[in-house]
Amino acid sequence: MRRNIAVLFLAAVAAFFAARWWMRPRAEKPVEQAAFTEASIDPALWSKRFPFEYEGYRQGIRVPEFSEMRGHAYSLKEREETDRITDSRLMRMFSGRPKERPQPAACLACHGASTEFFRTAGEGGSRLPFFEARRQVTQPVACIDCHDPAGLRLHLTRPAFIKARPTPSPTEQDLRTLVCAQCHAEYYLAGPERTVTLPWAKGLKAEDIEGYYDGLGFRDWDHAETGAPVLKAQHPQFEMWSQGIHARSGVACADCHMPRERRGAIHLTVHAAGSPRRTLDRSCVPCHRAEARELQARIDAIQLRTKRLEDRALTALLALFDDIHRAREAGFPEARLRKAQEWHRKAQWRLNFVMADSSHGFHAPQEAARLLAEAIDCARQGQLSLP
Ligand code: HEC
Ligand code: HEC
Ligand code: HEC
Ligand code: HEC
Ligand code: HEC
Repeated sequence: MRRNIAVLFLAAVAAFFAARWWMRPRAEKPVEQAAFTEASIDPALWSKRFPFEYEGYRQGIRVPEFSEMRGHAYSLKEREETDRITDSRLMRMFSGRPKERPQPAACLACHGASTEFFRTAGEGGSRLPFFEARRQVTQPVACIDCHDPAGLRLHLTRPAFIKARPTPSPTEQDLRTLVCAQCHAEYYLAGPERTVTLPWAKGLKAEDIEGYYDGLGFRDWDHAETGAPVLKAQHPQFEMWSQGIHARSGVACADCHMPRERRGAIHLTVHAAGSPRRTLDRSCVPCHRAEARELQARIDAIQLRTKRLEDRALTALLALFDDIHRAREAGFPEARLRKAQEWHRKAQWRLNFVMADSSHGFHAPQEAARLLAEAIDCARQGQLSLP
């Protein structure tokens, strides 16, 4: 009996010291302090050190019309659930029916954290089938796409952009736009390698890009109804922005789309890049010193004006489609329709360029109005040119 008590006593003492040892104060784990590397692709690795930024990034945007999450953290999911041919609003609207072909890995250049993949895959990487490359590109647009992992500064990584725009020494403020411009810009896939290429050799305006494509004899598809070789613009946000008053005034994409928010004594960046309508207080008010309501009204006014012009341009374009179609049905030779087809290409490109920017004119209100006025004129000239 006495022996059992002694054993219990010793066990209790041992447990006490063991517990004290276990609960001793320990130094911070050194791993968390380690710098990130090119291999730190998974945003979850960054979450411990930067919980605020990570949370915003994960938050994304809920879009009712898509009934799904959108935004950088969701840039891959979207791709896999979207059938480009049937889902794209613009495709349907212009009733273009490009031949369906399997998507290439090139799409991952902007839709995923793919820098490392393209570095190792080299030149031929772009034309691999999407789903094959997807096995290696597992993360959507991620921290590492905007931030240099060693110093955390904004950096440029996309080969197409670096080639097209060798800005020798961009300032920190320039980078707050250029980092976005790598992906939020018009592009095409060049040659059999399907290399992502930015068509800026002649300049950034819609007609500069059109001139570049004309020079190449490039077309996205031949329009079924009119036979015109047409172009399709994709999100030329950088190009439209660059024609506006905000670009002139040095206001960057991040100033409106990723404003800073006060957290205690410091200001941190809101990483849920989305519509500035949700952050008017932080996106616009600090510069404009007007109430959020007033800025909202200014956005509304610009967008409504743009929408009205878009509607008229679309009406004119559809009228041109009908007229060319009727002329074809009547058996006029293609040679006599060529002029009208050229006008069709021009009108559609201008209208499409404004719509594909998806700010509904806000990024450059006057430029948008100019392009839409030209679109209307081109469509009507096309009608007049018909036999
Ligand atoms: C590596 C390519 C890449 C970079 C760099 C990038 N984006 Fe994006 N961005 C995308 C893709 C792809 C989407 C579409 C995501 C989806 O499917 O919802 C997107 C979506 C967005 C959206 C939401 C659009 C919508 O239709 O709801 C905004 C706003 C946005 N980005 C702003 C920015 C800003 C501002 C920057 C720079 C600070 C930036 N992006 C940098 C690729 C990029
Ligand atoms: C140069 C960069 C870039 C490349 C290359 C790219 N995308 Fe995108 N894509 C984006 C950005 C940025 C957005 C979001 C823009 C926005 O919301 O306005 C986007 C949005 C989309 C959308 C949703 C917008 C819509 O039209 O409803 C689809 C679908 C899409 N891309 C398909 C593709 C496919 C397919 C490929 C490959 C052929 C591809 N993308 C290649 C940058 C790119
Ligand atoms: C689309 C580009 C983009 C992505 C993706 C992105 N960031 Fe940022 N980040 C920015 C911009 C722009 C700034 C503002 C930089 C400046 O100060 O000019 C910023 C600032 C920061 C800062 C500085 C502190 C602050 O809040 O201003 C940290 C830390 C940071 N980001 C962490 C992250 C982490 C972690 C991720 C991934 C979960 C991430 N970022 C993803 C664009 C991005
Ligand atoms: C002065 C503020 C401002 C600047 C600078 C700016 N934008 Fe925007 N952007 C807006 C507004 C306002 C909208 C319209 C949002 C809406 O209607 O909900 C918009 C719309 C967009 C959209 C479509 C978002 C959606 O919800 O469909 C994208 C993508 C985008 N901008 C990207 C960019 C990029 C990339 C740059 C830089 C090249 C840029 N923006 C510069 C204010 C700005
Ligand atoms: C970093 C500062 C800055 C931010 C952020 C900013 N603006 Fe501006 N905005 C300017 C400047 C500067 C001008 C040009 C004023 C001038 O020179 O007359 C301007 C011009 C405008 C104009 C007149 C456009 C035109 O073409 O005449 C409107 C409307 C406007 N801003 C709305 C907004 C809205 C809405 C937001 C938020 C989404 C915003 N701005 C964010 C600085 C800013």
